[in-house]
Amino acid sequence: MKLALVSTLAFLTGAVSPAFAEAADSGVGARLVHDTCATCHAVGADPDAKSPDPKAPRFLDVAKMPSATELSIKVFLRSSHKHMPNFILTPEEIDGVAAYILGLGKK
Ligand code: HEC
Repeated sequence: MKLALVSTLAFLTGAVSPAFAEAADSGVGARLVHDTCATCHAVGADPDAKSPDPKAPRFLDVAKMPSATELSIKVFLRSSHKHMPNFILTPEEIDGVAAYILGLGKK
């Protein structure tokens, strides 16, 4: 109930879309990130962790970049990259991953 209220408030204020809030709650992002992204990126909130691929930024650092927003992360995940594999993710997965990464910056 409390959760529904928070989602509704966020929706009314335009901060977060309902689908985004749902994906953030469902753990889809956390699962995907640990299964798929952790081969190269440090994906946790540990400030001492190092990415397995030194060229891949830690998600904690991505979360703290001033340019990191829900939109910028979603755009990144839908575009093609030179140095990172191009993943084909469903919209739910993209929401989940973006929510997961941004959530790290709030800890
Ligand atoms: C094979 C290694 C590899 C895997 C697997 C990988 N990445 Fe990356 N990623 C990189 C490298 C290298 C960079 C830095 C170079 C670049 O930006 O292209 C990067 C950069 C990023 C950035 C930073 C973009 C920015 O604005 O600077 C994000 C966000 C990101 N990856 C998300 C993900 C997510 C989400 C996954 C899992 C679905 C993932 N990566 C899996 C190697 C990887």
